[in-house]
Amino acid sequence: MNDKGIIFDLDGVIVDTAKYHYLAWKKIADALGFEFTKAHNELLKGVSRTRSLEILLDIGKVTLSDNEKQKKLISKNKDYLGYIEKMGADEILPGVLTVLDFLDENNIHYVLGSASKNAELILKQINLHHRFFGIVDGNAVSKAKPDPEVFLIGAHKLHLPPENCIVFEDAIAGVEAAKIANMTAIGIGDKETLSEADFVFNDFTEISEAFLYELLDSTKY
Ligand code: BG6
Ligand code: MG
Repeated sequence: MNDKGIIFDLDGVIVDTAKYHYLAWKKIADALGFEFTKAHNELLKGVSRTRSLEILLDIGKVTLSDNEKQKKLISKNKDYLGYIEKMGADEILPGVLTVLDFLDENNIHYVLGSASKNAELILKQINLHHRFFGIVDGNAVSKAKPDPEVFLIGAHKLHLPPENCIVFEDAIAGVEAAKIANMTAIGIGDKETLSEADFVFNDFTEISEAFLYELLDSTKY
């Protein structure tokens, strides 16, 4: 089963940072004078920072100059980092460490495949940075999910063909990217929202060892 590798998305899979993105974007919306709800925030999941601002401005029907947009992006990230700097290992989502331990015990390599430019910092904050075989983040890609670029670079880092890679994702755009890359997509979240995934679990506590063995080595079971 060592011919398989795993690619983990970060936000919404390993940690719930969506709540911090929400607070930081809400502050921008408040300053611009329109309402930004949690339902709106769903639209920003898996989406790059620049694209998120475009979506936010569309919601508020606000037009800004490129210079003003740059200022908003800097200010949003400054606020977001304020929350990230307070994060610790206690924010790792339930079941994640059990799955990572299983992969380590079975010598299965895993890399990160995230749209976030803050991914390395977050992994350091939660003390997981050293465990990843490689990191592909928002600084490494030129095309955002659903483009498969982030996962294809991940496969390269794993020295594996895409079809041997298994992706854990919470965003529709991420599941789509994994499928375009010809990888197995495991959705973490709502079954209906992530219906394009090969398997969907509410969270990692629902993933059994038997499932992982089956996934990693279909001949074993
Ligand atoms: C993704 C999040 O992982 O990263 C998005 O799901 C976020 O909500 C994107 O916009 C970019 O993150 P950052 O940290 O570079 O602003
Ligand atoms: Mg995500």
